[in-house]
Amino acid sequence: MIIEKIFQSRIEKMDFNNISFGNQYSDHMFCSEYKNGEWINSIIKPFGNIMFSPVSPVFHYGQAVFEGMKAYKDKNEEVFLFRPKENFTRINRSAARLEMPSIPKDIFMNGLIKLIDIDRNWIPKNYGQSLYIRPFLIATNGVLSAKPSQDYMFIIISTPADSYYKHPLKIKIEEKYSRSSAGGIGFTKAAGNYASSFYPTRLANEEGFDQILWTDSSTHTMIEELGTMNVFFWLNNKLVTPKLNDNILSGITCKSILSLAKEEGIHVEERDLSVSEIINGLEKEKLKESFGCGTAAVINYFKMISYKGRNFLLPNISEKERISLRLKKRLLDIQHNLSKDPFGWRVQLKKYL
Ligand code: PLP
Ligand code: COI
Repeated sequence: MIIEKIFQSRIEKMDFNNISFGNQYSDHMFCSEYKNGEWINSIIKPFGNIMFSPVSPVFHYGQAVFEGMKAYKDKNEEVFLFRPKENFTRINRSAARLEMPSIPKDIFMNGLIKLIDIDRNWIPKNYGQSLYIRPFLIATNGVLSAKPSQDYMFIIISTPADSYYKHPLKIKIEEKYSRSSAGGIGFTKAAGNYASSFYPTRLANEEGFDQILWTDSSTHTMIEELGTMNVFFWLNNKLVTPKLNDNILSGITCKSILSLAKEEGIHVEERDLSVSEIINGLEKEKLKESFGCGTAAVINYFKMISYKGRNFLLPNISEKERISLRLKKRLLDIQHNLSKDPFGWRVQLKKYL
């Protein structure tokens, strides 16, 4: 791999006391090209613009997939990645569905490890803060016909991250728009899934909601996920999350929460979950808590759920009693190397360079 280091770091311009997600990027990026069936030209170089033919399929047909993962520091400024193999597996699952080549493990892992090692100064030090890492794969061959590209580029960039949401969320159960449908690409992290959610999310934001609770596309009666997060409900003293299907992204945070909750002896259920069950739980006060979870957002609990114009406030329980905050702390403690790692999720990044 070629490594071209930046002449002068931009880190002095980074305000670590005021981190705004995705506004500043670390000094370097990793790129690897796929041409004639081979992965070539792996390079770490200064973060900067990239140039492709205007007829590249990524621009016309949305042949693009991505990942979201994080690097954390502990008190001694040792660096840890969280479950990186899960992201590697998932990007290749997404790539296969979009008829893209799979990324070899050594290219993904070496690129990731070396990039984060070079840019380790960009990882914020405080609890709950991290470096958000965005690997992505795009179709770059310039042929306008609607068919898969011949050439691709795999890129990794990163951005310092703090809490994505700074307040409890107001949620709208979606009755009209959908993010995915059976047999579609909802289970992938395909770029187009996000583009199609922007319009309904803006409408929900204009109505005063933070996020949309997606429901199934044919009946809008079954709960799927929340904006760019998976969703949990503390219902009848059980922690319930919708069972994965083709429409739902299998979240690494969700998987981790399920393991932590089971380990704590919490009764968890992964099953089909209807909107009426949630509304009934709200009306009868059997639904005590609900929260979304994802890499960028970590865990955020809801303040309000709205359905068909009716706003239901969730019980106003103390922070100490909240299952969401207890699980969030357990997760962050593992991520920041403050507690044991019983499941082997942390991957320590040694200093390579
Ligand atoms: N669902 C969607 C649609 C997402 O975009 C994300 C974010 O990545 C998640 C769920 C949560 O997945 P993860 O916990 O792996 O970040
Ligand atoms: C993540 O949590 O990693 C996401 O992908 C959310 C992102 C679209 C901001």
